[in-house]
Amino acid sequence: MRAIQVSQYVKGPLELKVSDLPTPSPAADKYLIEIHSAGTNFFDILQIAGKYQHQPPLPWIGGMEFAGTIAAVPTSSSSPRFKVGDRVFGANQGAYATHVLADESTLLPIPNGWSFEDAAGLFVTAPTSYGALVHRAGVKAGDWVLVHAAAGGVGLAAVQIAKAKGATVIATAGTPRKREVAKEFGADYVIDYTDKAWPEEVKKLCGAHRKGNGKAGVDIVYDPVGMIEPSLKCVAWNARLLVIGFAAGKIEKVALNRVLLKNVSLVGVHWGQYARFETETVGTVWKGIFDLVAQGKFRGTAFKDASFAGLESVPKALQALGGRETWGKVVVNIVGDEKAKSKL
Ligand SMILES: NC(=O)c1ccc[n+]([C@@H]2O[C@H](COP(=O)([O-])OP(=O)(O)OC[C@H]3O[C@@H](n4cnc5c(N)ncnc54)[C@H](OP(=O)(O)O)[C@@H]3O)[C@@H](O)[C@H]2O)c1
Repeated sequence: MRAIQVSQYVKGPLELKVSDLPTPSPAADKYLIEIHSAGTNFFDILQIAGKYQHQPPLPWIGGMEFAGTIAAVPTSSSSPRFKVGDRVFGANQGAYATHVLADESTLLPIPNGWSFEDAAGLFVTAPTSYGALVHRAGVKAGDWVLVHAAAGGVGLAAVQIAKAKGATVIATAGTPRKREVAKEFGADYVIDYTDKAWPEEVKKLCGAHRKGNGKAGVDIVYDPVGMIEPSLKCVAWNARLLVIGFAAGKIEKVALNRVLLKNVSLVGVHWGQYARFETETVGTVWKGIFDLVAQGKFRGTAFKDASFAGLESVPKALQALGGRETWGKVVVNIVGDEKAKSKL
């Protein structure tokens, strides 16, 4: 197989190289997947530089999210869930490769009609946003939801889920193109949050279009950036502020008097740990997502303004992601790479 193997940490993605490695043999307890598309994540950039919380012992293959077809089922399983040829998506270390071994628990069937490209970006973003909005914040019809970095991976998922549940969405993003994309995915209003006065814009919208306590601001804030402190200026009584991430690179400190005065809740979300601490919710969340997909209320968010074909384009894709130039999920299409095909 071909793969991006990290044998020593690198300063940046452009130093990554593709190499030829032995294709893994079918395993007793794992599926062998032929990867068609791989999703990129900011933590991949941290991991190749040795700066991520999860660093496997060197050497290892980069990438975590993929979509592909089953090439072999676990040799010791008498009733595997998937059969050879099934289209699956999942998350497992080693996605920047033509093949990967994966546990059944890390795989899901690709929804009908979905491309490998769209499915490769689904495993992390959709359940994070669904779990946050539906299970942690209890979003319901009539709520107003403020989604920060709404054109990012988790952001575009959040916009779609909030809309599907009947909420009104105010989306923030840093460029006109990203605000346009947020609108294409359903946002009702868009705001440029690089203008420091953005909380005033949110208050103006709520003042003009909402009634009662809602005139003060939104009911739910979805924050993958680190914007809780300024967001507290534009929330309604009983609001829930979801702490999703710190894309801006700074972990905020919040004045808790505002939390008390506005009778609001700060709600943390750590989706990856549900598989450990709350397994029953994992299935419920995925059922909710697949229902929205079947109803046509949730679609793939693969970045379409440029394309990344073949493993050789992983460095460029990671560079673009790290440079904040992209929207949605940046996906590398691995099958389609002529070199990869000739080695399969
Ligand atoms: N809690 C969980 O379980 C969970 C799960 C998945 C992801 N996350 C976290 O959520 C965050 C977003 O993930 P994602 O996959 O949506 O990432 P992404 O696709 O890279 O989007 C991040 C967005 O953040 C905005 N941003 C603001 N300041 C930034 C900066 N200094 N550098 C880069 N981007 C900046 C950018 O939008 P603008 O250019 O419009 O500002 C960008 O689109 C990450 O911190 C990630 O670790 C958490």
